[in-house]
Amino acid sequence: MSDGRAYGLAVGESDPELYQTGAGTPAGELLRRYWHPVARSADATDTPREVRLLGEDLILYRDRSGTPGLLTPRCCHRGTTLLYGRVEEQGIRCCYHGWLFDADGTCIDQPCEPDRGRNRDRYRQPWYPVVEYHGLIFTYMGPPERQPVFPRYDIFEGLTDDEEVVVIDHFAFGGPTVAPCNWFQTHENSMDPYHVFILHNAISGPQFNPNLEIWPSIDWHAHDWGVTATQDRVLPDGTTLHRVTEVRMPTIRVIPTPTLSVLGPTNNLSWAQPIDDTHTRVFAMVRKQRGQPAQGLPVYAGDRSWFDLSDEEHQRYPGDYEAQVGQGAITLHSVERLSSTDRGVSMVRRQFKQQVQVVADGGDPVGVDFDEASAPVALTAGNYVLPSS
Ligand code: FES
Ligand SMILES: [Fe+2]
Repeated sequence: MSDGRAYGLAVGESDPELYQTGAGTPAGELLRRYWHPVARSADATDTPREVRLLGEDLILYRDRSGTPGLLTPRCCHRGTTLLYGRVEEQGIRCCYHGWLFDADGTCIDQPCEPDRGRNRDRYRQPWYPVVEYHGLIFTYMGPPERQPVFPRYDIFEGLTDDEEVVVIDHFAFGGPTVAPCNWFQTHENSMDPYHVFILHNAISGPQFNPNLEIWPSIDWHAHDWGVTATQDRVLPDGTTLHRVTEVRMPTIRVIPTPTLSVLGPTNNLSWAQPIDDTHTRVFAMVRKQRGQPAQGLPVYAGDRSWFDLSDEEHQRYPGDYEAQVGQGAITLHSVERLSSTDRGVSMVRRQFKQQVQVVADGGDPVGVDFDEASAPVALTAGNYVLPSS
């Protein structure tokens, strides 16, 4: 008879519909219906760079005319890697026998073949399309006939001369760039507002604005495009902070600046980059005044950055990185004990799994748009201060 001790404990299992990223898996095929950030624009240079997204290794470069390209590494001739390729005015030339490929994989030169490749039209290096937007390079890795238009976001449109958009890729706004864990366990954290009181306040001291310690009323809402969490707090001056956070299919989370340094509509949005099943990077895009720091990073042990802490201090002042990586490389869904405060997490999971099924049944998932004339996506998240009643 069990008395609760660990002897004979079931190992537990992870839910493949939540964590898988690979081609041909149901969740991986859902992810492949959207545009994803793959790297910073600054990473695309005339030195080819290895990048990895959804478990696929790729080579990113920018040719000398300024066009970025994203190709599979293995040259379609005899298989050496384009990591050692030479970037030219147009395209990248394989180091081994000199085949030259354009950004869409077209073979435009075969120097050893008759007429520099009489039949070169027959060869194409596998490639993915890219779009650059405010300092990030996005790609679409799904079926060509289902490629949606690239979505823009209202908060990043119409910049004035003294504004700019910057990219931050610290994990969870303060931590190493790449986290050794599955992307979904970082994603669902966005709909877990209760951890703010415990992890970010009671355990580690205020890591954001101390007003977030005030106990709010919390509610969640499901939308076609994602889930929102709303929190209302009466602040010491009698006003009400109405804070709305949102997640959007598939990997987007909109967390208004938790230092409360920016009030009103959110000035930032972030994407999880599912590098593969057990590695995640987070890219945040922040709109701000030129010359001003991008605010919103958490503080640790009073006033320090994540990078200043020793291993022991990370134990005393844990943050999102420690809590989420601490769930393991892929969390074990079957042995969790979800409770009343996990409603938002459950909603995000349910919606994602519904969309996995939509794609498996041959449909288009929510949040994709095929109309070039569509307006930018309007976000709802923000730190809204309502006057005292
Ligand atoms: S292996 Fe690339 S050109 Fe031969
Ligand atoms: Fe957090």
